[in-house]
Amino acid sequence: MDKLVIQGGAPLRGAIAVSGSKNAALPILMASILAEEPITYTNVPRLRDIFTTNKLLAILGCPAEFDGHTVTVTPCDLKPEAPYDLVKTMRASVLCLGPLLARLGEARVALPGGCAIGARPVDLHLTALEKMGATFDLDSGYIQGHCKKLRGAHIHFDFPTVGGTENLLMAATLAEGETVLENVAREPEVVDLANFLIACGAKIEGHGSSIIKVQGVSRLGGCEYRIMPDRIEAGTFMVAAGITGGDLLLTDCPFEELEAVIAKLRDMGLVIEREGARDVRVTHNGHLRARDVTTRPFPGFPTDMQAQIMALMTIASGAGVVEETIFENRFMHVPELVRMGADVKLSGHTAVVRGVQRLIGAPVMASDLRASASLVLAGLAAQGETHVQRIYHLDRGYERIEEKLNAVGARITRMPE
Ligand code: UD1
Repeated sequence: MDKLVIQGGAPLRGAIAVSGSKNAALPILMASILAEEPITYTNVPRLRDIFTTNKLLAILGCPAEFDGHTVTVTPCDLKPEAPYDLVKTMRASVLCLGPLLARLGEARVALPGGCAIGARPVDLHLTALEKMGATFDLDSGYIQGHCKKLRGAHIHFDFPTVGGTENLLMAATLAEGETVLENVAREPEVVDLANFLIACGAKIEGHGSSIIKVQGVSRLGGCEYRIMPDRIEAGTFMVAAGITGGDLLLTDCPFEELEAVIAKLRDMGLVIEREGARDVRVTHNGHLRARDVTTRPFPGFPTDMQAQIMALMTIASGAGVVEETIFENRFMHVPELVRMGADVKLSGHTAVVRGVQRLIGAPVMASDLRASASLVLAGLAAQGETHVQRIYHLDRGYERIEEKLNAVGARITRMPE
């Protein structure tokens, strides 16, 4: 296992290219199962979760070939089983359930276990697919689903689940008749998936709003599709500029998709401006102020940026309250930040952060993907040396993070733990 050793205190200056979005690429790659012709994806990030998805696709009968940032998937004989060995390493594997049921009328997908940031059940996916005619039972840790042919239905989600919306959207493209999905997730990654499905021949309206309508079609073809840039990676680099008092130009950077994050960072004292159509410059006006943050489904402040903005708040002036409303147990970065000298008090779903003059480098442990990112950010700002252990979490979601940061002035070394 590797760790990152960070010498803090260097302001980051220069340009960083934002990679393709992990959370858009995962469902869009999984949607290959629906298509009867080859698909070429570009701007695919080279990340562990994407390699896992490609392995899973191959097992399901859709061999995927990675070349640089391009993935080509060729459909052949579909098989219905997603084995536990792969699912246990990546919860998003459950996204093959909808497409398999739509194409094969059967699916056997290992039940993803709990994860570090909460129980994360898939009950909303299953009840919605049942409304479309699927039946499920649990056999030796596997969800077994069957249906004759999925039929259009009117589905209201109790909560706008991102994965649930994506699973149902994919399933509905090949169902008989019209499916109306209400109270769906409006996340940009859902919109990217819908645009991809439309490029393959699906009939979808309303993506990006809370009601999506899908007219089932008899088959989907292939296409060439560019994955959207990663808004969470971009937001993480924005915080990196702010926390080090630097000046970064982020190229191919999402902007509207980051509105809530940009508004909050500006309010805290960052200067964030568009440069041309696709680049964003992030600087600092010399004074960081703590602000309150509450995570919400899109277009609210994303839970995937909560840990990173908290790192920024630890050295801002004043106090801010961070409330996590999407996941239980998503504050595992807090005790680690405290080990670096941060002043954070936890109470249930709320953390009160009081800014300190400076953080001090320390050995810390990464517990999940975004918590890891917040520790790297804290290490960049801290005085002295920070050792971030268990960074395999980081490699699931950030492409070559230390290379990208070192190219703009960070001093990070990867070494065995
Ligand atoms: C996706 C993202 C993740 C992000 C999250 C919220 C991917 C691969 N992952 O995760 O990075 O943090 O959206 O923006 O895109 N829930 C249920 N029952 C269900 C489904 C969800 O209770 O059937 C609960 C979950 O436990 C969680 C909340 O709803 O507390 C949000 O989950 P969901 O929106 O489904 O997130 P994911 O798709 O898992």
